[in-house]
This record gives sequence, structure tokens and C-alpha cells, in this order.
Amino acid sequence: MDSIHIVGGKRLEGAIPISGAKNAALTLLPCALLTDEKLTLTNLPRLADVDSFGHLLNMLGVSTKVEGVKKGEFGRRMTLQADDLHSTVAPYDMVRRMRASILVLGPMLARAGESTVSLPGGCAIGDRPIDLHLRALEAMGAEIELAAGYVKASAPNGGRISGGDFSFPVVSVGATENALMAAVLATGRTQLFNAAREPEIVDLCNLLVAMGAQIQGIGSSHLIIDGVEKLHGCTYAVMPDRIEAGSYACAAGITGGSIDLVGARPEDMLATTNALAQCGLIVEFHDNGIKVSADGKLRPLALSTAPFPGFATDMQAQFMAMLCMADGESFLEETIFENRYMHVPELRRMGANIDVRGRSAIVHGVNGLTGASVMATDLRASMSLILAGLAAEGETEVLRVYHLDRGYERLEEKLSAVGATIERRSAG
Ligand code: UD1
Repeated sequence: MDSIHIVGGKRLEGAIPISGAKNAALTLLPCALLTDEKLTLTNLPRLADVDSFGHLLNMLGVSTKVEGVKKGEFGRRMTLQADDLHSTVAPYDMVRRMRASILVLGPMLARAGESTVSLPGGCAIGDRPIDLHLRALEAMGAEIELAAGYVKASAPNGGRISGGDFSFPVVSVGATENALMAAVLATGRTQLFNAAREPEIVDLCNLLVAMGAQIQGIGSSHLIIDGVEKLHGCTYAVMPDRIEAGSYACAAGITGGSIDLVGARPEDMLATTNALAQCGLIVEFHDNGIKVSADGKLRPLALSTAPFPGFATDMQAQFMAMLCMADGESFLEETIFENRYMHVPELRRMGANIDVRGRSAIVHGVNGLTGASVMATDLRASMSLILAGLAAEGETEVLRVYHLDRGYERLEEKLSAVGATIERRSAG
């Protein structure tokens, strides 16, 4: 298994190109199921999760072709076509490796009138149920059956679902995405109340509209979708990854450096940039991205995670690593997932001083961190260890690199280019 080795203590300076957003890619890819025409996605990140999603779609009968990048385009270009679906079953083996597989449930139901997906089960950051995905589809006319670890959603008489109204009791990104992808081909109107407003949802709505869907209220928590008979193909560029950009902004902060996040969109990440500024970093928005520079000692912060436009749970671990080096006590509260402090014991092994009580954490700033061998259980937690390693004295070895490969494209290359001493080693 690969590991990443970092010799810390270097001030990072330079530009990092921001890749296409993983979480947007994982909801744009299943839109290929909604049409028999070609869907071309550009600016797709080269990530293990994107490849896995491609394999899942292949199993369902969608052809995928990765093409050369054309002039003026970034990332990978993939053309997907679902002439005919071979299967409407997403098996356990796929879903257990990638939770986002649940996002085929809605579009497959819309297109084929039925959809069977393995239940994802728990994961490292908590229970993560899918009850809201199912309740929303049910409100839109689907019949839901649970058996042998699978959920089957079907439209009455194998036809189309009718659409309907659903109010989410808590904001859910994935459930909003599934409901949207099901609603666009329903026979009638769907209204989603308290829908998630994350930029990735806006990206999904924009793609669906480009394919011929009728959606009002894009960017708000009240979405009105009028089902259409048919959607068509199109070419669409995946939005930039706001979490990758925020992670590298923290790399500038923790190393006292200055990094230009090329391609990052300020409007997607204001909660992050506000927190960076409160922490004492200089944040400059420019035509093609955001520049973040450290200006002396980091200041402590109080942060609570919340649905967009609040502070993203996917940024909590990276900020925690950075705040280990702040001048004073920071207070963090995780309100979205119940078990998202798995990085804390590992950060402590590097010299961090953090107290956790339930969903709250107090980070007591320390004068320095020291390198160690560490491992993490999820993607963002792994990134927090990379950040700590960049600032630590001596060598840090980060194990279980496969978590990072799920969400950070060319991590070592991007960090080396701004001055980090970092390399991947293969264990034979
Ligand atoms: C997505 C992101 C993930 C991010 C999260 C929150 C993708 C592939 N993943 O995950 O990176 O951390 O949004 O911004 O885009 N909930 C229920 N029932 C449900 C669904 C969710 O109770 O049916 C709860 C969850 O347990 C959690 C909260 O709602 O407490 C938010 O979860 P949700 O927004 O659905 O997260 P994901 O879509 O899984």
C-alpha cells in the first residue's frame, strides 16, 4: 500500500490549479442515466471515486469514453451514453466502496421506472442513513421496498413517477440530488422545500437545465421542478472544487506561506474565506481565483459546521489542523456528522493539544508539531494529517493513502510545485 512522506517546516509559495469538484462530478455523472443521448462532462477530476462511478455506470449499461482534453478545457473529458439500460441494480460490492453510488437511485427510477440499490450501511464518519432519499421519492409517487439489504424504488405499473411535494426535515445534499434527478422526468410538478443549496446542487440544476429540464428556484431552498417528457445530451464543465481550494488555503496558513488558488470561485466558499480572514490570513479575490497569504501568527477561531452557506463540514478537519498552530484556544462544533473527529488522536500524536467533548472540540494552540507515522479513516481527516505534516518538524508518514486518492487530484505534485518536500512511496 502506498504512503505519503513529508518533511515539514517549509513555507509554501506559488500557484495551485484547482481541479473539478469531486462532489459535483459524482452527481453530474449519474445524469447520463436520464437520456439516451450523449452527455459530455469536461473538467472532471482524475480521482478514484470518479473512476468507480464510471464502472458502476458501465455495469448499468452506460458507455463511457475518456477523450483527450480540447483547447481551452481543463481536467478530463468523458462522454457517457445510456442508449439502453442493461440493469437497474447497483450491487453491494459497488455501494460499499463508494457511498455516492446511492445517487443512481433517483435517475434510474426516472428513466426505467424502477431502481434497486444496495443499502450503503454505516461509514467512518457516522451512521449516514438514506431515509430522506427514500421519503422524498415516496412523496413523488415511488413505491419503496426494502429486502435483503437492498432498496427497490418503482413507479406504479412500471411507468413514470408523478412528482409531488416534499419538505426535508434536515438539509441533505444527497437526498436533494436524488430527488432532483428523479423529478425532472416525472409526469407532473415536484416542489422541494428546505432543499440543500450547496454549490454542487446548483451545478447539478444547471446541467439538468442544459439537458432540457424545467427547474425554478435554483440556488434557493425551494426548488420547483416540472417534469418533461425527455431530456437531451449536452456538454458541461464540472465546477471547481471548493473543498480542495479551501484545503490548500489552509496549507498556506499552516506553513506561513502564500498560495494562489487558480480557478477557485469566491462565491462558492465565502464561509471558508471569512474564517481564513478571521484567522489573520490575507484573502484576495482576483479574476481567476483566490490568493491566500499568511500574515504573522494565526489567530484562534470559533467555528460551527452548517449546511451551505454555512461553514462546510468537509473543511472542519483541515481547519482543525491549522488551528493547532494558532495563538490561543479555538472552539469547533460539528453539527452535521456524529463521528467526524477521527483525525484528533492522530493529530495528538503529532503534538496537538485538542479536547473533544461529544460534538465539540477545543483546540489549544501549540508552538509546533512534530512528524510521526499517522493514518486516517476518511478523506478530509487524511488531508488534515497532510497539513499537519507540512508544518511539523521532521518527517511525517501518512498511511492509507487511498482515502486521499478518492478526493485530491495529483496531491503530491501540486504541493511539491509550491515548495513542499513530499513524495509517495509504494510498498512494493
Ligand atoms: C454530501 C457530500 C459530503 C458532505 C455532506 C455534507 C457528496 C458525495 N458528499 O454527503 O462530502 O460532507 O454532503 O455537506 O456530495 N441524513 C439523514 N438522512 C438521509 C440523508 C442524510 O438523516 O437520508 C443526515 C446525515 O446523517 C447528516 C445530514 O443529514 O447528518 C447531512 O447529510 P447529507 O447532506 O445527506 O450528506 P451526503 O449527501 O451523504
